[in-house]
Amino acid sequence: MAGRTIVIGTGFLGLAVVRALQQAGDPPLHTFRRNPILPGSIRFDLFTETLAAAVALSEIDTLIFTAKVEDAPDSSHLEAAMRSLFHVCRKMRIVYLSSDAVFDGRKGMYVEADSPNPLTLYARNKKACEDILMDTGNDFCIIRPSYVYGYSCGRLDPRLAQARALLRKGCQFGRFVNMYKSPMEVNQLARIVVRASRSPFQGMLHAGGERMSVHDFFKKSLTSMREDTHRLVPERIPPNAPPEFLADTSLDSRLLADTFGERPVQVQDAFSNFIESRNELRGRFRILASGRATKSP
Ligand SMILES: NC(=O)c1ccc[n+]([C@@H]2O[C@H](COP(=O)([O-])OP(=O)(O)OC[C@H]3O[C@@H](n4cnc5c(N)ncnc54)[C@H](OP(=O)(O)O)[C@@H]3O)[C@@H](O)[C@H]2O)c1
Repeated sequence: MAGRTIVIGTGFLGLAVVRALQQAGDPPLHTFRRNPILPGSIRFDLFTETLAAAVALSEIDTLIFTAKVEDAPDSSHLEAAMRSLFHVCRKMRIVYLSSDAVFDGRKGMYVEADSPNPLTLYARNKKACEDILMDTGNDFCIIRPSYVYGYSCGRLDPRLAQARALLRKGCQFGRFVNMYKSPMEVNQLARIVVRASRSPFQGMLHAGGERMSVHDFFKKSLTSMREDTHRLVPERIPPNAPPEFLADTSLDSRLLADTFGERPVQVQDAFSNFIESRNELRGRFRILASGRATKSP
């Protein structure tokens, strides 16, 4: 039988991936660990159970892994859990979300062939998970995004939500003018993840938007959201900053463009549709005060 897709983790990106699959007429199974955001979500914790105990694997042919587990301090536990997951899913197509953080930020505009040099626990764990998946011989695609931003099912990403809250409280805050990222709008990334899950492409794909400083990113986003940004001030990375202040992890995403024909949405254009997407969401789900959603009658 043709199998279903399962999306592991319905956080910021996972929700948008579930929605993109639903819109494509291919509603997936989906999991949560602590916060059941969507109706029908299956409880699954990578560190305490096997996927086979949570769901009938014979029904599934595609695994999209959008859970964020790589900040776990016990790397060997994480690696064992991921090895076990990839093993039980060895007959499935697997799409794993990694990160630009696997690079040390000294070069910028990284291509897929560049060697990672992870400097933080999160980045070392991401790299280890990439390596485990590549070693399995599974049918896989690893996607490395940079900042992911925008509205996912009506919810603004935590970075911009925090900055907007500061502005609205009248607080002044800084963002770096000499730290560079390649931000991508969350719903565009979700569509790319879905396309990757349906494509025969094997290997690594960088999925970033235009290279820009972190300061420019916040300025452009918040201005498009019609916030008053005069309290957002330019700052420079301090000379004695710790290594996790990665200066330039921007991504060269030409392989993505060549493979899927995807051109990144510009930050200044990304917010024009958010009211429509919020209205559309309201028609589909009722978001509860607790953060949960139920299907609207
Ligand atoms: N957001 C970005 O800017 C960005 C940039 C680069 C890469 N990425 C990568 O993209 C992926 C998605 O990011 P996101 O921003 O959507 O993350 P997120 O909003 O923090 O969501 C993380 C999800 O992972 C689930 N989860 C956490 N621990 C788990 C565990 N032990 N077992 C099963 N599920 C677990 C959480 O479930 P509960 O909420 O139920 O606990 C949540 O649904 C992550 O791999 C992240 O590293 C994100």
